[in-house]
Amino acid sequence: MKIIKVKDYKELSETAARLILEKVRANPQLVLGLATGGTPEGMYEQLVTDHRTAGTSYQQITTFNLDEYAGLPREDRNSYYTYMRQQLFDHIDIPEENVHLPNGETEDLQAECRHYEQLIKEAGDVDLQILGIGGNGHIGFNEPGTSFDSVTHVVTLDESTREANARYFSSLDEVPTHAVTMGIQTIMRAKEIVLLVSGESKADAIVRLLTEEANESFPASALLTHPNVTLIVDEEALKKV
Ligand code: GLP
Repeated sequence: MKIIKVKDYKELSETAARLILEKVRANPQLVLGLATGGTPEGMYEQLVTDHRTAGTSYQQITTFNLDEYAGLPREDRNSYYTYMRQQLFDHIDIPEENVHLPNGETEDLQAECRHYEQLIKEAGDVDLQILGIGGNGHIGFNEPGTSFDSVTHVVTLDESTREANARYFSSLDEVPTHAVTMGIQTIMRAKEIVLLVSGESKADAIVRLLTEEANESFPASALLTHPNVTLIVDEEALKKV
């Protein structure tokens, strides 16, 4: 795992955006795997600014998001679909049909999981996957204990994950209990992975990532066995190392 240590969140966002832009410019047909959460917001802001000022085009880029809440309408202000529209897609020139997120509203979530996994395979898998990490080591919504062989599946969210994400909802009760997520195997099939970790709340997760062997009780540790992972981490997150 290559490690890029940065000073703070601003530098993390700029570094991550630069890395994406290099790849998008080198391969205008890149298949990009995208993440939600607080961490990538600054990176998306940089990409939007670049599109406005330098005009980097996403006309032929395909995107697959990691995950989506189950049971929230796509238009709900807390769906990851809405997040992605607001953070990125509404501000760049990517065609709607090139954008993919799991559909969390459907009656048949199992069928949706199979369909989403199939779409990713048909696209030739993700070229560059952006990841954040949960305090408990989750990637996407793959909670501790998830098999490293997992493909896109329905998950029951950990209470700690619901609590961490409750800041976006009016109350904890409103946070969905389930989600659809790419599996760990799906993520690991990406040719390149960039993991973004910022802030003191991730300091324990960073210690675990840098000291443990790959084990299913700490999902992000799967990345230790991937041949092309870059960790971009700021000083706050490195505090306990
Ligand atoms: C969320 C998302 C993950 C994200 C993680 C960390 O639940 N499903 O994809 O990486 O938790 O979020 P944050 O960046 O807000 O700390």
